[in-house]
Amino acid sequence: RKVIVVNGPNLGRLGVRQPDVYGRQDLETLRRECGAWGRELGLEVEVRQSDDEAEMIGWMHQAVDEGTPVVMNPAAFTHYSYGLSDAAHMIGDAGLPLIEVHISNPSARDAFRKYSVISPVATATITGMGLYGYKLALEAVAHLLDQA
Ligand code: DQA
Repeated sequence: RKVIVVNGPNLGRLGVRQPDVYGRQDLETLRRECGAWGRELGLEVEVRQSDDEAEMIGWMHQAVDEGTPVVMNPAAFTHYSYGLSDAAHMIGDAGLPLIEVHISNPSARDAFRKYSVISPVATATITGMGLYGYKLALEAVAHLLDQA
């Protein structure tokens, strides 16, 4: 079964952007690791990244139409994109898992990071576990699909 792993703005800079917060591994490494983790779980994982809110919203519509579960790190959109939140809402409405991932623990950081407009519409949220959080998210998707 296909699963998309969607990453929001500035996550294309993984590895060079605030490595003290986000680590030294880049997006290509995350892509490889998610592929390997997915294979262990019998999932075909496609990792995407965009700095464009409209493109990310389009990916949600496509996931709903195709019945594809979503792992999402909405990055800064987490904190203010009602458009992405509404699109993410439709994933749950379609009965599909939506696991929100944050590499850091946003609630331990700036005040503006303490609220997520995505969490209320996510099946679950994983924070503060670095890139390993994506592995946990894929395991959660596999678990939820097994139960369905
Ligand atoms: C992030 C946390 C967000 O607050 C931030 O805007 C990001 C990354 C994380 O993975 O920890 O870009 O989503």
